[in-house]
Amino acid sequence: MATIIDGKKLAVEVRERAAAEVAELASRGIPCGLAVVLVGNDQGSATYVRAKLRDCELCGIPSHDYKLPADTTQEELMALIARLNADADVAGILVQMPLPAHLDEEQVVLAIDPLKDVDGFHPESLGRLVRGLPGLRPCTPAGIMEMLDAYGIDPAGKNAVIVGRSSIVGKPMSLMLLARNATISVAHSHTDPRELARICQSADILVAACGIPKMVKGPWVKPGAAVIDVGMDRDEDGKLCGDVDFASAELVAGHITPVPGGVGPMTRAMLMSNVALAAKIQHGLA
Ligand code: GUN
Repeated sequence: MATIIDGKKLAVEVRERAAAEVAELASRGIPCGLAVVLVGNDQGSATYVRAKLRDCELCGIPSHDYKLPADTTQEELMALIARLNADADVAGILVQMPLPAHLDEEQVVLAIDPLKDVDGFHPESLGRLVRGLPGLRPCTPAGIMEMLDAYGIDPAGKNAVIVGRSSIVGKPMSLMLLARNATISVAHSHTDPRELARICQSADILVAACGIPKMVKGPWVKPGAAVIDVGMDRDEDGKLCGDVDFASAELVAGHITPVPGGVGPMTRAMLMSNVALAAKIQHGLA
């Protein structure tokens, strides 16, 4: 039976570390504000934003909360980002995605000052990751690396398989595991479905980030593997579940993350950590 990776408990530790860093920076007169921008009325996004604002409170990070109407224009949003880029009290800027369909997300990501890019979505941040330079990393893969380290799972020399190739999880995850000397394979929607089980079975570290409920089954898991589930899905009964069929996978895996209580809390905690890091970078301290 697998060891459960307790993301909730680890997230508390990451938040405590971020809170200590923020307090230290504040004592030197360095502000660590986080601007959180939500456009429109998507209930899911509103819930995520509430959770992020609560985390800010827990960490002593002053939050700057912007709730914009669904008919906000691209120009209005760009003007707000320009103001936040110039605001010395704002160390980090987060624009909650997805944006309403009439808004250009790519243009928004590009407009955020890379030094304040606490999501790690800007091409400068991703380019730094590709080149192996220090910088702000996307929160979900950064949180997964923290989890692997906390449980003594060293990627060096291991086979890592990532199912999913999004710009915010799959691609940066593969690069971060590569940087730690794993041999990486990335499976995606065009991977031959008959090959998928065999590819997953080669994984010492298996990261499921495809957004398909319970797609990764127990028999796809190599005995003793670390199984990391990024999914936030609903099963046939409407119950929250991940991209991994937990019940069958936990019988085979060495380590496994639960949903909820695994990757999700760590993603949020890494955002707090990124705010402190962004403030340090802006003041030449990192
Ligand atoms: N929407 C879903 N996840 C995220 C995230 O990590 N950052 C932002 N900005 N939007 C999201």
